[in-house]
Amino acid sequence: MTQQAPHRYLGKARKLVDGVEKVTGRARYAGDVSLPGMLHGKLALSLFAHARITRIDTAAALKIPGVVAVLTADDLPTRNRQPSSRQTTTLAREVVRYRGEPVALVLATSLAAAEDGVAALQIDYEPLPAPVTAEAALDPAAPVIWPQGAPKADTDLTAAHAAVARGEEQSDHVASNIHEQKRFSRGDALAALATAEVVVAGTYRTAIVHQGYLEPHAVVADIEPIRKHITLYTSTQGQFGVRDEVARLLGLRTSQVTVVPMTVGGGFGAKYGILDPLAAAAALAVGRPVRIVLDRSEDFLTTTPSPASTITIKLGATREGVLTAIVAEMVIDNGVYPFTLGGIMSTLLGGYYRCPNVQIDVVEVLTHKPQAGAYRAPGAPQVTFALESSIDELARRLELDPLELRLRNAATTGDPMGNNDPWPSMGLRQVLEAAANHPLWRERTPGSGVGLAIGGWPCGMSPAAAVCRVDTDGIVRVHVGSVDISGVNSSFVLVAAEILGVPPEQVEIVAGDTRSGPFAGPSGGSQITYSVAGAVAAAAQEARRQLLEVAADMLEARIDDLDLRDGAIHVRGLPGRTLPIGEVARRAQEQQGGPGPIVGEGRTAPAENAPGFVAHIVQVTVDNETGRVQPLRYVAIQDVGFPLNPLMVEGQIHGGAVQGIGWGLHEALRYDENGELLTASLMDYTLPRAADVPSIETVLVTNPAPNGPFGARGVGEPPITAGAAALANAIRDATGARIYELPMRDEVVW
Ligand code: MOS
Repeated sequence: MTQQAPHRYLGKARKLVDGVEKVTGRARYAGDVSLPGMLHGKLALSLFAHARITRIDTAAALKIPGVVAVLTADDLPTRNRQPSSRQTTTLAREVVRYRGEPVALVLATSLAAAEDGVAALQIDYEPLPAPVTAEAALDPAAPVIWPQGAPKADTDLTAAHAAVARGEEQSDHVASNIHEQKRFSRGDALAALATAEVVVAGTYRTAIVHQGYLEPHAVVADIEPIRKHITLYTSTQGQFGVRDEVARLLGLRTSQVTVVPMTVGGGFGAKYGILDPLAAAAALAVGRPVRIVLDRSEDFLTTTPSPASTITIKLGATREGVLTAIVAEMVIDNGVYPFTLGGIMSTLLGGYYRCPNVQIDVVEVLTHKPQAGAYRAPGAPQVTFALESSIDELARRLELDPLELRLRNAATTGDPMGNNDPWPSMGLRQVLEAAANHPLWRERTPGSGVGLAIGGWPCGMSPAAAVCRVDTDGIVRVHVGSVDISGVNSSFVLVAAEILGVPPEQVEIVAGDTRSGPFAGPSGGSQITYSVAGAVAAAAQEARRQLLEVAADMLEARIDDLDLRDGAIHVRGLPGRTLPIGEVARRAQEQQGGPGPIVGEGRTAPAENAPGFVAHIVQVTVDNETGRVQPLRYVAIQDVGFPLNPLMVEGQIHGGAVQGIGWGLHEALRYDENGELLTASLMDYTLPRAADVPSIETVLVTNPAPNGPFGARGVGEPPITAGAAALANAIRDATGARIYELPMRDEVVW
């Protein structure tokens, strides 16, 4: 589908289709939905990181005017009562395992009454010991969170839960807090390291980082009691996954659940449906609509941030700068339930460079904290911080330009860890060449505080379908089932406009719910442009074929002589022989009867992913007195394949770069030794502010993805991957000091 011809609309900056609605406050978010008879839900959260619940007394709460019900674990459908590693909120049963774990849900006619109800609940706890950090949890003397093994995603009544019910979880250390320990390898890395001419080693630590979206989790569940049909208005990255999970947990058929995706105020991996099953269960329990909107503190306490990691890494190389060995050990802090990132982190660590000998040992640890979860390129900032800092150190040892070292070893294509997940057509080399030519890199002088790092992400692929209708009013309506969290709808507009020769103003996106929309995967994994825009292109091609067929008949011309432009069909060489597409649609409708004017259907099922690579260059100054790091210039180079809408692509890169600066210099969820969260508000959780971010220059490399629409690749995740490492390397250049810990705040750098 790669097209070399000059484009009329594609590749030209276009404002986001919902931009005006968003900035004028007209966009409707889940929390804006209000239904007759709706109840407000407020969660009672555990005050302890680990404790037995000895009593829940709801009597006082139920006396408060407006309080209608108090739900505890016993009121939930069986499957939703169990601990689950599925990242959905449930209510604790007998034992709480992290500070902030929901224990009860108060439902009331107003939010104020619900809050009063929570305050009036009497919940008694008997505190239990709680290893809060991975280090503490790995201590052989530490109590084991799940003595019978951590709960699995798909079991109904897990062994773990049964053990908890029998009060066995404190018995003795029959298991450990390591829920998975795995080795990923190719070649013989230990032997290669032992004989390497040059070795560098270091241990790198990263903090727990929250996704930092603006809109907290929010959902309104409506119930049609007679049919037992649930409708969820929710802030989600993908309505189909939410529907399936809610149906599974509540024991309903998927046809009994409709999920309506609302405008999303940021997701970054956290909005796959954390609250939805609980809201649905609550609505089912009371037979009334229920709204749950988390406040900022609740969101920080109960949702699923990116895990902390400790990565020890050793690189071996020849004196000429050929990597011969990568040996690493990663400890990943999963929180209370497994969230296994070791596989993808190993793929990244072994995938960027063409090194024949790699050995990575992954230890996934459970701790008394909220479950870790996905955050934009999950695991990649952690890996790149360790790997790209080490590559920088290796370049210094070799007295080699760090970019030259990367060029000598950059992978070009392959199957990084031999796990049958190939990375075709990697643009890493092109990205590095663009970096080499950039003045910020080329003209730097030693010690001027310039650092570089690479990053990348495989970019996903889900099957997707789209429908493209040409209506009798001449409007092209593109129906999709994806959620627009990143501006993708504006790209779909341009794809349809280009193929149909219709001005973008004449194209509308109709985003469906789970009943009305064609299927699409979730807006995550940098896959929507790659897969859904491909389906839109196929649908538009089919609509175009139908248009030309009907028009050829009307214009008494051969299809080959027809041209589609400016919303009309023209006979080439015969000015005036022209039909607006709406008229063609009308004729098609008359011929076929029914509502069907022109309807094209398109599908994609990409067979291979389309990895996107970046090189970020940053210049910093470091204050000698305070250790404060100020980024001065930031250049983000990225292989985007082809920018369908450059404005949106650049917006994604800017956002990713800012979040990379957050990883590098600012962000950390901090817990005290009792598991109390110390950063449960935006006053304490420091996100980068405008003054912390320099202007960001983007450089787009266009190395087409063979199966991408017009060569496009996913662009959402790659730009967050390299920032922290680039900053660390810039600080090293400015100060001579290597920083091994994120975030690199003043006190760490000083
Ligand atoms: Mo994402 S972390 O692929 O939403």
